Amino acid sequence: MTRFTEMGEFAMDVLEAIMTRHMVGKVRPERPKREEIETLLRAAVRAPNHRLTEPWRFVVIAGPALDELGEVFAQILRAVKPDATEEELNRERAKPRRAPVIIAVTCLKGRDPIETHENIVATAAAIQNLLLAAHGMGLGAYWRTGDMAYHPLLLEWLGVPTDAHFMGFVYLGYPAPDAPPRQTPRRPIEEVAQWRGWEAEG
Ligand SMILES: Cc1cc2nc3c(=O)[nH]c(=O)nc-3n(C[C@H](O)[C@H](O)[C@H](O)COP(=O)(O)O)c2cc1C
Repeated sequence: MTRFTEMGEFAMDVLEAIMTRHMVGKVRPERPKREEIETLLRAAVRAPNHRLTEPWRFVVIAGPALDELGEVFAQILRAVKPDATEEELNRERAKPRRAPVIIAVTCLKGRDPIETHENIVATAAAIQNLLLAAHGMGLGAYWRTGDMAYHPLLLEWLGVPTDAHFMGFVYLGYPAPDAPPRQTPRRPIEEVAQWRGWEAEG
């Protein structure tokens, strides 16, 4: 079921969005509209958040900034693998151009280890909000991290404190016509959930 939201965007029913979402690896080169990206960010920050620490930070990366990010990937590869070939470096450089927009998401450290943990959990929920909103709006999204993601050079380029946590890149674009509507399988809920006290009452 689809409907118009208060913000005027065309969105699908929340359960339908959850049950049909899948990562979209192949997107068209046209850049989504700025208002669409802003809607995704507004959806992200509605995530539940203990003590309202609002720990999430987003960097929207497009155009030449995608190539800058590719250079950072290559720099990191050079740092971790000094004998990397030019071909390997070029492969890293090209990665951000797999989508017209990337949102890099980081999470600020809390005042103690528990707050840090809960900040990370909240930021993961924010990313899921963002993915669901994208799917509901007809955008393709892909949450990626990758080998180059956890290096301090990336946090430095993103302009966040060095003790912030990198949470992922969300690659975004309009789905390519031949992008497979692939849903990955999940184990049946019987294997992952147990019920206690359910039969005793109710
Ligand atoms: C924290 C995180 C990091 C991920 N990093 C990658 C990645 O670097 N490359 C990749 O192919 N998939 C990565 N994934 C998985 C995909 O985003 C996707 O969830 C997975 O392929 C399952 O597909 P689905 O989301 O359509 O069910 C990551 C997922 C999470 C939660």
